[in-house]
Amino acid sequence: MAEIITDLKEISNPSAGDDAKKIVVSGIRSTGNLHLGNYYGALSKFLRMQDDFDCRFFIADLHALTTNPDPNQLHASVKNILAEYLAAGLDPDKATLYVQSDVPEIAEMYLLLNMHVGIGELMRTASFKDKARKALGLTGDGEEIEKEIIGNQSSQARVNAGLLTYPTLMAVDILIHKADFVPVGKDQEQHLELTRRFARRFNSFYGVDYFGEPVNFNFGGEAVKVPGLDGSGKMGKSEGNCIYLLDDEKTLRKKVMRAVTDEGPKEPNQKPSQPVENLFTLMELVSEPSTVEHFRNAYADMSIRYGDMKKQLAEDILKVTTPIRERILDIRDNDEYLAKVVKQGAERARAAASETLRDVREIMGIRGIR
Ligand code: TRP
Repeated sequence: MAEIITDLKEISNPSAGDDAKKIVVSGIRSTGNLHLGNYYGALSKFLRMQDDFDCRFFIADLHALTTNPDPNQLHASVKNILAEYLAAGLDPDKATLYVQSDVPEIAEMYLLLNMHVGIGELMRTASFKDKARKALGLTGDGEEIEKEIIGNQSSQARVNAGLLTYPTLMAVDILIHKADFVPVGKDQEQHLELTRRFARRFNSFYGVDYFGEPVNFNFGGEAVKVPGLDGSGKMGKSEGNCIYLLDDEKTLRKKVMRAVTDEGPKEPNQKPSQPVENLFTLMELVSEPSTVEHFRNAYADMSIRYGDMKKQLAEDILKVTTPIRERILDIRDNDEYLAKVVKQGAERARAAASETLRDVREIMGIRGIR
């Protein structure tokens, strides 16, 4: 089982003799716009980490290529995500912010590491099975995906090799920096597990002690799960229940006012239904504790009016998103600034990456004639 560090003190104690800050790496795939789920799930973690760690955050545009996006959309999306992260407070002078494809060392090391990665273990990865099924248009979740892939003769509905080797590329993203911590969601745990396995395998094959084993990172307690507005589970792009950082006031108010609720409490002190509890959960993220308490009490004594609660919720969400939205609009078209940020980021990332790549080539025997 993966070890998850929860105590900040345990690992980041700059005065404890070890001057070097621990290295943190995380990648963000460039698809769509950021929503409140991304903000509270990942981004807020990054913001807290950038002061205490040597953080390297990048936009994973090569990973985005695995699903063959429209080139113009891919390019726009890279810029967009970068602007959104900067607007939310990631600071290019504290953290190294770069675009994955700006660091060609990653592509080369990906080729090298692939020599030690099994096709079978890649095919067994949950996210691969998922995406392969989608690529082949399979709906059931039969166990025979491997056969379907090999048997498939269509050149259109193919499962591309990049998709299969997605975990190799991700492992390289992490190992090329010799990262200590990789803050990611639960859905990425399996990829992180593979990263550790590849690191161990490399070390033992070449009889070196070169790569460490990076672990996930959480600030104490439970990971926050941000619910959507449709009364069901998690906020997510594909669910269509999202509040985007970029939503304007009118859109945002409308979405919140339309959020699913129920017919109201039937008796005092009852447990709220899932859709109503979701609204409370959102409120706990954005509102003052006294506000949450006010509406919890109103629910308990049955005087609650969901309309009032939603109005308040929309107001408090706007307090979080409005300043970010204004900065996004400001930064988004400032090509000069964005270019400067990623240029500086790529330089720093390449400095670290080229050292690792040099060592890996040497270890593997790609030594040139000299
Ligand atoms: N696979 C990650 C995701 O889909 C993105 C990612 C790519 C990543 N490379 C990484 C995350 C390296 C952490 C570290 O969210």
